[in-house]
Amino acid sequence: MPGRIGEIAVTADAGLPDTLRDLPVWTPTPVELADLELILAGVYRPLNGFLGSYDTAMVIAGRRLSDGTPWPVPVTLTVPKELTGHERIVLQDPEGVPLAVLRVTEAWQDPASREMRLAGPVEALRSPAHGPFHRLRRRPDELTPREGNVLAVATRDFLHRKQLGQLRQVAEQLGAQVLVLPLLGGEHDDSLIRALLAVRRELPDGAQIIPVPLPPRGGDDEEERDILLRAQVAAAYGATHLLADREVEGTAIPVVVPEPWAYDADVEVWRPVARIEPDHVQAELTPERLNELLDAGEPVPDWFTPPAVAAELAVARPPKASRGITVFFTGLSGSGKSTIARGLADALVERGGRTVTLLDGDVVRRMLSSGLTFSRADRDLNIRRIGFVAAEVTRHGGTAICAPIAPYASTRAEVRRMVSAVGDFILVHVATPLEECERRDRKGLYAKARAGLIPEFTGISDPYEEPDDADLTLDTTDMTPDEAVGKVLDLLVEGGWVRPA
Ligand code: ADX
Repeated sequence: MPGRIGEIAVTADAGLPDTLRDLPVWTPTPVELADLELILAGVYRPLNGFLGSYDTAMVIAGRRLSDGTPWPVPVTLTVPKELTGHERIVLQDPEGVPLAVLRVTEAWQDPASREMRLAGPVEALRSPAHGPFHRLRRRPDELTPREGNVLAVATRDFLHRKQLGQLRQVAEQLGAQVLVLPLLGGEHDDSLIRALLAVRRELPDGAQIIPVPLPPRGGDDEEERDILLRAQVAAAYGATHLLADREVEGTAIPVVVPEPWAYDADVEVWRPVARIEPDHVQAELTPERLNELLDAGEPVPDWFTPPAVAAELAVARPPKASRGITVFFTGLSGSGKSTIARGLADALVERGGRTVTLLDGDVVRRMLSSGLTFSRADRDLNIRRIGFVAAEVTRHGGTAICAPIAPYASTRAEVRRMVSAVGDFILVHVATPLEECERRDRKGLYAKARAGLIPEFTGISDPYEEPDDADLTLDTTDMTPDEAVGKVLDLLVEGGWVRPA
């Protein structure tokens, strides 16, 4: 009997069987782990593993596997070069729990990215037990087969009154039972599921809600391939129809596009536009307008969505005044980063309403990163650590103020991505020219660097990549610290993160 996903306990002694102990281990990316879970659960059937070079090329070019079976997206596994010489490897989750064994049938290089990939069938060691609401997860083979039509909605979006109405209408037209598949992999999976559970009564009777890990993948014609993949997944769960915004050729099951609905302001209900007097059709609440309301902390109107959904929207996108933010200063040593960062932290504390964590370069070097050198690899590690902490602070609605040199653009971009997934990010380039930093030379380090006593010194014997994505640039040559802090505060007030004094 296959266990329900998530119910297999991982005990301390549930280590690897002896035969697998010597195999190399690898932790796939979140998208690859989601793929692994769906392969193992049979959701991706007929796939039983990661694709090789030929299948991948065929899927990319023609959305088919090499045997002709339609398949929409390349399901591949990228590994470091060192892992390409093995017959089998163990795939583990980020906490180091072994999940599956990959029997390698091909090690190949992606012609575009030059990354190394491994292909081959996977065999489960245990079911992944993660994620909020994992108790709702089901493998397709755990569902009682249903008679007749089954209409699936596979969505990363909240269902508002319009979508709920359309769903009821299409289900009724098809005489179908309803399967709601919230697609996990965003930052607000929990809100999405809570919102669905909260509107359960507005779903057709007997509707089942089963979360499926299916993060957005990006890439070529993402939208079309995403609909194809959603249809594939819905079909695996026994759906006969998929509700979607548009049709795409070659879906595993037919896509049903609902007729347009609108809010009838006269009788105050949502219904098909065709049944509304034209001058009673209320204008849509656009996604942009919805975001504006949420950003400002204003109520989302009840005609648009049920209050319980509105409440979850506000959790997923909190008002800017209480949303987490990272202000990341970058610039040469002696440019004034620490002084401005400290001044900003003080100013925010004085104003109240925001909690502040200051991650100054030199302080981080003593606490989080002691022992690291100034090689590129160590600098990158240092910045990633700062980014990790800043993202946690941001996730919890705080303000992280970071002030390292952060000389490399790609590493700064990585931090921007990490933080932006959970809140807002602002990059401030403290662009005080090298001559001025060296003239000030508060710590006497430039003199030492010039004398060759400090190797790899940023600006002297090590690179600094000027940002081209700064939200604010400050040259402190002719600016007092108070003025500089004032400019950052202005930006935060204008953006709505900080209330005007
Ligand atoms: S980063 O490159 O990893 O972002 P970080 O901001 O942590 O650098 O540390 C920079 C501080 O370390 C400087 O302000 C300076 O006081 C000190 N330092 C010591 N050696 C170097 C060096 N080789 N290059 C730059 N800064 C150095």
